[in-house]
Amino acid sequence: MKQYLKIDEWSIIEESFDPHTQEISESIFSIGNGYMGGRANFEEQYSGQSLQGSYMAGVYYPDKTRVGWWKNGYPEYFAKVLNSTNWIGINIDIDGTPLDLAACTVTQFRRVLNMKEGTLFRSFTAELEGGKQVQVESIRIVSMARHEIGAIRYAVTPLNFAGTLTVTPYLDGDIKNKDSNYDEKFWNEVEKKSGTEGGYLTLKTKKLDFHVTSAFAFDIVVNGEKVTAEAEALEQEKYVGSKVALSVQQGDQVVIYKYAANVTSRNYGLGQLVEAAHSALNGAREAGFVTLLNEQAAAWGDKWKESDIIIEGDVSAQQAIRFNIFQLNQTYTGEDDRLNIGPKGFTGEKYGGSTYWDTEAYCVPFYLSTADSSISRNLLIYRYKHLEKAKENARKLGFKKGALYPMVTMNGEECHNEWEITFEEIHRNGAIAHAIYNYVNYTGDKAYLGQYGLEVLVEISRFWEERVHYVPRKDQYVMLGVTGPNEYENNVNNNWYTNRIASWTMEYTLEALKYLQENEAARYAELADKLELQDSETSKWNEIISKMYYPSDEELGIFLQQDGFLDKEIIPVKEVAPENLPLNQKWSWDRILRSCYIKQADVLQGLYFLGDRYDLDTKKRNFDFYEPITVHESSLSPCIHAILACELGYKEKAYEMYLRTSRLDLDNYNNDTEDGCHTTSMAGTWMSVVHGFGGLRVQADRLILNPSNPGHWTSYSFKIMFRGSRLKVNVTDAQVTVTNETDVPAALTIHGKEYTVNGLGSVTAEGSSVTA
Ligand code: BGC
Repeated sequence: MKQYLKIDEWSIIEESFDPHTQEISESIFSIGNGYMGGRANFEEQYSGQSLQGSYMAGVYYPDKTRVGWWKNGYPEYFAKVLNSTNWIGINIDIDGTPLDLAACTVTQFRRVLNMKEGTLFRSFTAELEGGKQVQVESIRIVSMARHEIGAIRYAVTPLNFAGTLTVTPYLDGDIKNKDSNYDEKFWNEVEKKSGTEGGYLTLKTKKLDFHVTSAFAFDIVVNGEKVTAEAEALEQEKYVGSKVALSVQQGDQVVIYKYAANVTSRNYGLGQLVEAAHSALNGAREAGFVTLLNEQAAAWGDKWKESDIIIEGDVSAQQAIRFNIFQLNQTYTGEDDRLNIGPKGFTGEKYGGSTYWDTEAYCVPFYLSTADSSISRNLLIYRYKHLEKAKENARKLGFKKGALYPMVTMNGEECHNEWEITFEEIHRNGAIAHAIYNYVNYTGDKAYLGQYGLEVLVEISRFWEERVHYVPRKDQYVMLGVTGPNEYENNVNNNWYTNRIASWTMEYTLEALKYLQENEAARYAELADKLELQDSETSKWNEIISKMYYPSDEELGIFLQQDGFLDKEIIPVKEVAPENLPLNQKWSWDRILRSCYIKQADVLQGLYFLGDRYDLDTKKRNFDFYEPITVHESSLSPCIHAILACELGYKEKAYEMYLRTSRLDLDNYNNDTEDGCHTTSMAGTWMSVVHGFGGLRVQADRLILNPSNPGHWTSYSFKIMFRGSRLKVNVTDAQVTVTNETDVPAALTIHGKEYTVNGLGSVTAEGSSVTA
């Protein structure tokens, strides 16, 4: 772990150039807009260590699976997040020598991610071999207002020479995925054209026929005057560029404005792509760079209005939480229900696929509170649209009915291929059902159940029904051979969390059926018919609910992570020598599997999800037992612990967990940020503040707040959208103030007392200490 970024409230700042941290910075300074995005690669050529990454949401590649030993049921293909055309490139050449920071002396360097306005800035002074010095300043955006557009202002000044400066803005589709299973390139060229003012390039994927057309145009301005220099059109395979040679004097400022549009066959017919790209491109170029920057600042202003968290008295915490919110908002904007939130967003290609249970368990709560409810609804509809594939997946594994959603997916098909996860980590189905509950409970949109939710719930319940089995000797239902959220144990029997979320799903499905029967009888009849719902099924679910087996230990008063858990040697993590941590890098897998150490919240995940069903003492006993043996080696772990610790009044533990999640990437805590950021866990960081310190819950159509000040901040405030109102909750040691920023009144409970915040009004509740 090396902290090299400057602490600032609104920006991420790097003040010197170090090739060793270049790939980490490429991840951290990534920019995107939900539709496309990419790593903070340099515009000019760079021969040093770098992971090139430019991604178009929803454009993927089914790479043929590679495993050591094939197991029936494995997916044939593994969908890869696809590196696509590099549209940012602008090569610079000075009197025949390329500008390449890996081959120069860099005397000044500054890189700034301005999160308030959504820009990536870089400036540097470099001395080339032979002593020629140039100063460069670039600013880049991926436009939030015009999703298909990216734009760059790139300014070069010769500091100590006069000569020929050659600039080559280009598009390069001859790119690779680092994680390609067979070292193949995934793109073929379809068409291209280069000219004196830009060009375009259409590529298609070798499988599935995704087409992407990128078009670029540029303007050159020297000392404030637009120049129309003769450009040489360049074409190579999967490459177009325009080369312009300029005679420059010492001190001249040469500014290149590069505009790029990227459009895909996901949104246009094949015959429309080139025209669509040019129409977006021309609009952006006519608007001009300054207008694009202003639009960008305004769009980000709107995002921050809905989702900002302000922390007073701790700039490092302030920067971290804004970084997390920024990354989430630039990864998923919610207009397109075919898209989702990959664990690395647009910051890297690792993990493949775009959808894990991370979306439902961690991201849905973030978008529910910080954006219009249509956005979280779209995340749910995404799964509805994959229901047929989830049913096919269950059939493939031998189930006669029901749906098993994949552990990782892009298009509804499974693309994970480790048996203990693909076949056994089935608790993911429960998170998908729980997100439906969460959405309906938060928004009050019960109509969702009849429209989409119920079908998913019924098919998931059917899966659970078949997956459990009855043991006459126990007169109970058990579930064998599963992997719980703690992936440091596989193929265990009766993982408490999985059994619990399975029976909860059936309970909620029955509740949803009853609601529909009583309130939307016609729709109920229609769905019962479509689903061929049998009375025998619902009575079976009731029986399973009443006879589900939950491993527990009476003496310790805890739920057992699985049947055999207490046979393990229980030694707290604090007694493990630090050189053995992280275990996943230091111990053999065999040793990890036999140990008591837990990767991420498991029993505690259930106590968080179903928090209103368990009392504080139960939560406390389980937390006190499990947290000390948890190594938090999944980025999704600390946040759940932070939330429960807040509820239990464990202030220091809560803060320790919060710090661990919030600066995970900024401080490269897990030593893997170069692969990309941990985007989905960033929603967990937000949850630590709002569900943890803020104590936000929604019960019986009411917003509940139990805020506490973690003790390291003067005050903090967060925004929440709730049923038409947008509230700002400000917490100090002495009081909680809720200000309504809309004219829709909101009813809420603060520390157990009921309030109504009128439109544009505010209420103040005394005290902010933890009530435990
Ligand atoms: C975690 C899973 C998670 C996945 C993607 C794994 O390390 O154990 O729970 O879904 O990462 O974030």
